[in-house]
Amino acid sequence: MSLVYRPARADDLAATDAMVVGSINELTVRHGFGPMAATSPPNFQLFSLEDDPDGLWVAEDDGEIAGFAWSSACGDIWFLAQLFVDPGRQGHGIGNTLLERTMQHARKSGAVHRALITFTFNRVSQGLYMRHGLFPKTPIYYLGAAREQVTKALPQSPLRAIEMDGSAATMEKLIKIDASALGVSREKHHRYLRSDSATTGVLLLAGSEAIGYSYLSAGGHIGPLAVTRPDFLRDAFATALRLAADRSVEKVSAFLPGTCESALALAVDQGMRITFPMLLMASPGYGGWTQYLPRNPGFM
Ligand SMILES: CC(C)(COP(=O)(O)OP(=O)(O)OC[C@H]1O[C@@H](n2cnc3c(N)ncnc32)[C@H](O)[C@@H]1OP(=O)(O)O)[C@@H](O)C(=O)NCCC(=O)NCCS
Repeated sequence: MSLVYRPARADDLAATDAMVVGSINELTVRHGFGPMAATSPPNFQLFSLEDDPDGLWVAEDDGEIAGFAWSSACGDIWFLAQLFVDPGRQGHGIGNTLLERTMQHARKSGAVHRALITFTFNRVSQGLYMRHGLFPKTPIYYLGAAREQVTKALPQSPLRAIEMDGSAATMEKLIKIDASALGVSREKHHRYLRSDSATTGVLLLAGSEAIGYSYLSAGGHIGPLAVTRPDFLRDAFATALRLAADRSVEKVSAFLPGTCESALALAVDQGMRITFPMLLMASPGYGGWTQYLPRNPGFM
């Protein structure tokens, strides 16, 4: 075994995605949940690499990808999108070494808060993150249901949804919403999502005021979604469910933090089922998301 740790390159990213998908599915199947992930073009990884190459690392063993770590920062928040080791090579310190590399990236970024989403049922990842100063904060449930199920007795959209355009005025509104919901600007993520032809975004209006936004994938997945006040969250999620239900998707899904009680209650009332229990881990003093639903564990 000749193990090398090096910055990731664009031409690694298809192979890292394949390894990550294999590692996720080995874990979720081993714990009785069935497979969770499928390979996809590594567009967001590539976007991140071009934005900040210091955040992506590979462990290479005789030319094969043995591990991958990927982090990025938005203002004060540093987020670990992925840390995965090939199932046949776990338990030999590769994850720890990759995490040390990404922690250097966190320090360099100057971000005050650090966060990630992991599997509630993985003792190894949680123990490893705690060793590095990241602690369990909030459960995040991946919920889903067939579209017909969600549509039943769904309230009319309480908010008005207008499709996002590419104007500077819309970006300004998105930046304001994120500042209220998360305390940082995510302008680069909105730019990325806008370039993704499989995703649509809406601004959510109460009267004439933009109080939130929501994205929806072509497959019926909601998120990221953010609102300017916690008490807007239920209406925002209800509107997002209505938009998803109006599409010709088979399934509707979302990641809902335990701190978003009103949205969770609505999801359960609409018959959505918990498929994967996940966990937000973060540095001390961070992690109470009450105005925000992430897109997925790799895309806060
Ligand atoms: C999580 C993962 C990245 C860790 O990488 P790894 O190379 O297997 O881990 P390492 O050998 O570097 O470190 C393992 C450490 O986990 C911790 N750990 C393991 N089991 C633990 C337990 N039951 N309780 C607490 N800590 C535990 C220990 O700190 C251990 O280090 P030690 O053996 O030196 O004490 C890897 O196992 C993996 O890919 N798992 C599946 C996918 C996953 O959950 N990824 C995280 C996604 S956010």
